[in-house]
Amino acid sequence: MPVPLPPALDLSLDLLRCPTCRTRRLHPDHGALRCPVGHTFDIARHGYAGLLTGTRATSGDDAAMVQARDRFLSTGIYAPIREVGARLAAHAVSEQGTVVDVGCGTGYYLAGVLDRMPGARGLGLDTSVRALRAAARAHDRAAAAAWDVFRPFPLADAAADVVLDVFAPRNPAEFHRVLRPTGRLIVIRPTERHLSELRARLPSIVAIDPVKEQRLHQVLNPFFEAAVTEQVEYSASLTRLDALDLVAMTPSARHVSRADLNDGGVLPDQVTVSALATAYQPR
Ligand SMILES: C[S@@+](CC[C@H](N)C(=O)[O-])C[C@H]1O[C@@H](n2cnc3c(N)ncnc32)[C@H](O)[C@@H]1O
Ligand SMILES: [Zn+2]
Repeated sequence: MPVPLPPALDLSLDLLRCPTCRTRRLHPDHGALRCPVGHTFDIARHGYAGLLTGTRATSGDDAAMVQARDRFLSTGIYAPIREVGARLAAHAVSEQGTVVDVGCGTGYYLAGVLDRMPGARGLGLDTSVRALRAAARAHDRAAAAAWDVFRPFPLADAAADVVLDVFAPRNPAEFHRVLRPTGRLIVIRPTERHLSELRARLPSIVAIDPVKEQRLHQVLNPFFEAAVTEQVEYSASLTRLDALDLVAMTPSARHVSRADLNDGGVLPDQVTVSALATAYQPR
């Protein structure tokens, strides 16, 4: 039985371009997406478009990381970050817009933006199939597609009103190409203080590079100009499971030994959450 076209994917189909020939549109055909010359991409049973074929992406969250992230985000501990992202997005464009979330993970932030913008539609891109399964179910108006941020996006030029990037890798040239001139890029990233209590106790968790802000500015500057920056910083209490999930959802999780984690007092019961959210306008 072919998979019926998921409604949210139908809603965003006109945004998509064939990843192989780059310019042609994709059409649903027997549970797949096909371009007029015949390049074909599966629609996964879980509802996302499998546009990433051929060589495997070099990065992306595995099942354990996605599960930890999903559980952690469902506690609401990062809700203030989602709130700021949604506010910046809604402020930037009219209620009817197209939002592309790059490195969307489980689609938590995209869903937050779409809740704020009742007429908008969204598309999440990620390399992780586990994340995409969740992203395809995150919101009625959110489609999801497998894609690697470091390759040219399978999207039409000037098709997006908002490109959202939350704690995810970036491709400034492609962000610029797919955004309309009136659109906004919203980048949310951690500050040096983010989760500092956890880092202090588990040194194998990768530190946040102090020159990161400078580097972000350097790579975005040819394409974008910062319009508004908001800082979100607060202290959050953690259960032991929350703390374990926070560790498990970081890319350095595999360097943390079980013994470290089982050592009674090592996990903090409180952490600083600290992030910057900037809305950029295209140059
Ligand atoms: C720290 S997580 C953030 C996920 C989500 N934005 C959130 O904050 O909940 C980084 C995400 O980027 C994805 N990712 C890593 N490398 C990628 C790549 N090359 N292309 C697209 N997504 C990638 C991971 O699979 C993961 O979902
Ligand atoms: Zn094609």
